[in-house]
Amino acid sequence: MALAKDYNSVMGRSAEIMRESLGLDFNDFESGSVAFDYEGLMKATGYTIDDVDKIQSKTGVGHTQLLELRNITKLARKYAKPGYGARILVKDEAANASGSFKDRRAACAVAHAKKLGYKGVIAATSGNYGAAVASQAAMQGMKCIIVQECYDSHGVGQPEIVEKARKCEALGAEVIQLTVGPELFYEHLSVMEDSGYFNASLYSPFGIAGVETLGYEIAMDCRELYGKDPEMVVCTQAGGGMVTGTARGLIKAGATDTTVVAASIDLTGLHMASDEQFNKKSCTTGHTGFGVPHATNPDTGDVPRSAARPLRYMDRYVTTTQGEVMYMTEMLANLEGLERGPAGNTALAAAFSLAQELPEDAILVVTETEYTGAGKHIQPQLDFARDNGIEIKFGDPSEDVPGKNIVLPANPGLFKVKDMDLNHLRKSLIKRSVPRANGKKLTAEDIEFLVADTRSDEAFVKSVLDELGVEY
Ligand SMILES: Cc1ncc(COP(=O)(O)O)c(C=O)c1O
Repeated sequence: MALAKDYNSVMGRSAEIMRESLGLDFNDFESGSVAFDYEGLMKATGYTIDDVDKIQSKTGVGHTQLLELRNITKLARKYAKPGYGARILVKDEAANASGSFKDRRAACAVAHAKKLGYKGVIAATSGNYGAAVASQAAMQGMKCIIVQECYDSHGVGQPEIVEKARKCEALGAEVIQLTVGPELFYEHLSVMEDSGYFNASLYSPFGIAGVETLGYEIAMDCRELYGKDPEMVVCTQAGGGMVTGTARGLIKAGATDTTVVAASIDLTGLHMASDEQFNKKSCTTGHTGFGVPHATNPDTGDVPRSAARPLRYMDRYVTTTQGEVMYMTEMLANLEGLERGPAGNTALAAAFSLAQELPEDAILVVTETEYTGAGKHIQPQLDFARDNGIEIKFGDPSEDVPGKNIVLPANPGLFKVKDMDLNHLRKSLIKRSVPRANGKKLTAEDIEFLVADTRSDEAFVKSVLDELGVEY
C-alpha cells in the first residue's frame, strides 16, 4: 500500500525515516529525559581521527595550507597599541575539492553511506554543503539529491544561493529548489523516504567527525611552523559544526589552552523565515540568524540529536557586520592576493579586531577560506542589496542596521567585534532543554549534561533552574 504523503503523515513518520536514513538509532543514546550520551553518539561513528584523515586524503580533502597573512597582520598592528597585534594565519580550505571546509563533513558522510550500501545521499542545505556532498558523491560513485531553499515567493533568489544551486547541478546532483518556508524539512523527509538514500545531514556525528581533522591539523601545523599551539582560533559560526568539530580536533591534538572564538555577522532584527526579509541580507551563512538558534537550541535539525553543540566548545562568541566582511574580502584580495568567499572572511573580519587584543608574538588562526564565484562576489551582492532598497555607504560599522543599510568601514581602524553575552545564551539553552523532562524532576545526569552542554558549572545550571522554577 502506498504511504500517505501529506504533510502530517510524513512528519508523523519522521523518527522512523531518520532512523532508516542514517543507519543509526538515536534512541540508543537517550536517557528518557534532558540528557543524552553525546560522546557515545560520537563514538558510534566507529571512525578514529586517523580513519577520517585516510578517508579525506583519498578524496581531495584536508591537509590544506596554513597561510600567514603578513600584510593584514602589519595593517592590524597599525591600529593596535604598541607591542600588540597577533600574527594572523588562515587555513586555505578553499583548496578542498569543492572549495570549502564542508568537504570534510561530506567526505566522511558519503564514505559511510557507501560502506553501509546506500545507493545515494541526500542533504537539505542552501549552502556550500550541497556542493560538497555533490562533489564527494561524484567522486565516490553515489547518486545525490540536494534540497535547497532558494527563492522568495516571487521566485527571486539571493545571488549566492542561486550560484550554489548551479554549482550543485554542475557537480551532477539533482537539485530540488524550494521557496522560503516550513516545507524544507517536510520535503527533505519525503524525498529521503521515497529514495531510500542516506541522510548526509550536516548535524550527524559523521559530519562532525569530519571537521575534527581541521582542528587537529591547525594544532599540528602551528607546532611544526611556530613551535607552539595557537593562542586563539576563530571560527565562522552558523549551524555550529565548524566550532564543534574544530574544537574537538584541537582537544584531540592536546591543544587545550587555545581560546576558541565563534564569529557571526550580526543580522539581529532580520527574520530568517520571513518571505519579505529573505532577500534583505547580503550574506547567506555565518550570521546570527543561524548562529544563535543553533547555539541555544541545537536539536532542531534534520537528526533527532545534533552532533554540533557549539556552546560546549566556544570561549567567546563575537559579532561582526556585513560591511566589515565585504571590506575584508577586498582587503584579503588586495593585500594578500587571495580572492576568497564571504563565509570564511567573517571569521577573518573578526580576527582583524581580535588580533589587536593579543601581543605580537601570539598566533591567531582563522580556520578557513572558502571558494568564491559569480554570486559570492561583492559586486553582485551590493547590486542585489541596492535593488532591495538597502542603503550602501562608507562610515562607522557600528551604525549598521541589518536589512536597512550596509556600512563599509571608512578606515580599517573601525573594525571592532562585539562580544555576545554567553550566560544569556547558556540560560536560553537550559530553558529550551527542560521540556524534554516532561514535567519530571531533572536528574543528576541531566544536570551534568547541561553543565557540559553550556560549558558552565553546576552552580550556574542550578541557579538557572531555580530561576525557571524547575525541580531537580
Ligand atoms: C564556508 C563556510 N564556512 C563556515 C560555515 C559555518 O559553519 P557551521 O554551519 O558549521 O557553523 C559555513 C556554513 O554554512 C560555510 O559554508
